[in-house]
Amino acid sequence: MPGLIVVGAQWGDEGKGKVVDVFSAHADFVVRYQGGANAGHTLVVNNVKTVLHLVPSGILHPKTTCMIAAGVVLDLAEVAKEIRDLKAAGVLANPEQLRISDQCTVLLSYHRQLDQAREAALGNEKIGTTGKGIGPAYEDRASRRAILFSDLFDRAKLREKLEHSLKEKNFLLEKFYNAKPVAVEDVEREVLALAEELEPYRCKDASFIIHKALKGGRKVLFEGAQGTMLDLLHGTYPFVTSSSTLSGSACVGSGVGPNLVQKIVGITKAYTTRVGSGPFPTEIQGDLAERLRQEGGEFGATTGRPRRCGWLDLVALKYAIRVNGITSLALMKLDVLSGHERIEVCTAYRLDGQEIKELPVSSTDLTRVEPVYRTLSGWSGDLRNVRALQDLPQAARDYIQFVASEVATPIDVVSVGPGREQTLWIKPLFS
Ligand code: IMP
Repeated sequence: MPGLIVVGAQWGDEGKGKVVDVFSAHADFVVRYQGGANAGHTLVVNNVKTVLHLVPSGILHPKTTCMIAAGVVLDLAEVAKEIRDLKAAGVLANPEQLRISDQCTVLLSYHRQLDQAREAALGNEKIGTTGKGIGPAYEDRASRRAILFSDLFDRAKLREKLEHSLKEKNFLLEKFYNAKPVAVEDVEREVLALAEELEPYRCKDASFIIHKALKGGRKVLFEGAQGTMLDLLHGTYPFVTSSSTLSGSACVGSGVGPNLVQKIVGITKAYTTRVGSGPFPTEIQGDLAERLRQEGGEFGATTGRPRRCGWLDLVALKYAIRVNGITSLALMKLDVLSGHERIEVCTAYRLDGQEIKELPVSSTDLTRVEPVYRTLSGWSGDLRNVRALQDLPQAARDYIQFVASEVATPIDVVSVGPGREQTLWIKPLFS
C-alpha cells in the first residue's frame, strides 16, 4: 500500500510532524498539500529541535524527496528562511530533495498585513489567526487573482499581476484599515530576489511525479497541517483556517486520485488543545489546565501563544474519524497524562437536556454542549523511557484500550515523548 495520509484529528498541534518524521524513514516522498506557514511542525532528533512551517517533515531523511504541492500557500520569505536554516544545519545539501510545485499560491507580505489588520479590526470577535496571511492568500486563489510560483519566473507577468493585485490591496489597507500601502516596486524587488533563491527547487509538474511514484509502488506520505476541527467546510466555522484540512484535501491539493491512497492515519493527543478562538467543549481552566500546558509544553510553535487545554473528546474524535475516513490512530503525548489520579474522557455531550453522541454541525450548538465524562484511573511514573507497549503501566494500557474501543478504530502508534525513539510501534504502518 504505497500511499498514506497523515491527518490531524483535533484542532492541530497533535504531533503530526513527529509522526511524519518517524514514518519518513520508510517513505520515498513526503508531500505537504495544504495550509502554509501557519503550521508549526516540531521535530526532535538527538535532542536537537527543528521547527518547520512549510518544508515537509520528511526533510531530515536525506533519501526522502519532499514536495510542496499546489494546495499550499507558499510564503516566499518564510520558505527561503527555512531552507537557509536547514542548509546551515547541514540538511538539504541537494536541492533535489525539496520540490516546490509551480502551481502553489504565492503568499507575500501584504497578505500578512491584511490578515493582521483584519484581526485588529475585529477586536473581541477575532478568529485568533496566526497572522501569517493565510486567509487573504487563499482568497486570492479563489478569486482567481493569485500569483503562482511559476509566475515568479516570468518577469512581465509577475509585474502585471502584482500591479493588478496591489491596486485592490492598497485600497483596502489605506482606506479601510488605515494602514500603510505597499509599493509595487518594493514587493517586486523582494520577490525577484527570493525567486532566484528558490528556483533550484522549482517543480513544473508535481502532480505527475507523485502519481508516477504511487503507480510505481513507491511509498508516498501526505502530510496534513492543522487539524480536522479547523477545516474550512467541516470545522468549527468561522473559527477555522482557510484551507481544507481533511484527508480528501491530500488528493485535491497534490493532484492525485483518491483510489491511489488507502491508508489514513489520524493523529490525536491523549488530551486536547486548541489555539485561537472558538468552541472547545472539553476545555478546562485553572491549575489543571496549567499543569497540562506546562507538562505538555503547550505553547504555539508558530506564534508562541499558550494553548487552551482540555480532556480528550471522543465525540470530536469519532467525527474526525468519519469525515477523514481514518483507518488507524496515533495517540500522542501519553506521557503528559502521568501523575493524575483520575483522567476524564468525554464520551458524549449534553445539549438541551438530551445526551448526544454525534458532534453538532453548528458551531453555535457546539458552544452550548456540556461534555459527559467517563472517569478512568490514572497512573504514575515517567513514561518517557518506556520503549514497549507491554512496559506501560496497566492503567495507561487500559486508557489506550478504552479510547480504541470507544471510537472503534485501532491505535497503531503510541508516543511517549518528542524523540523518535519515544515511539511505541504497535503495527508498522508502511508495509
Ligand atoms: P490561520 O490559519 O492563521 O488563518 O488561523 C485560523 C485558526 O486556525 C486560528 O484559530 C489559528 O490558531 C488556527 N491554526 C492555524 N494553524 C494552526 C496550526 O498549525 N495549529 C493549530 N492551530 C492553527
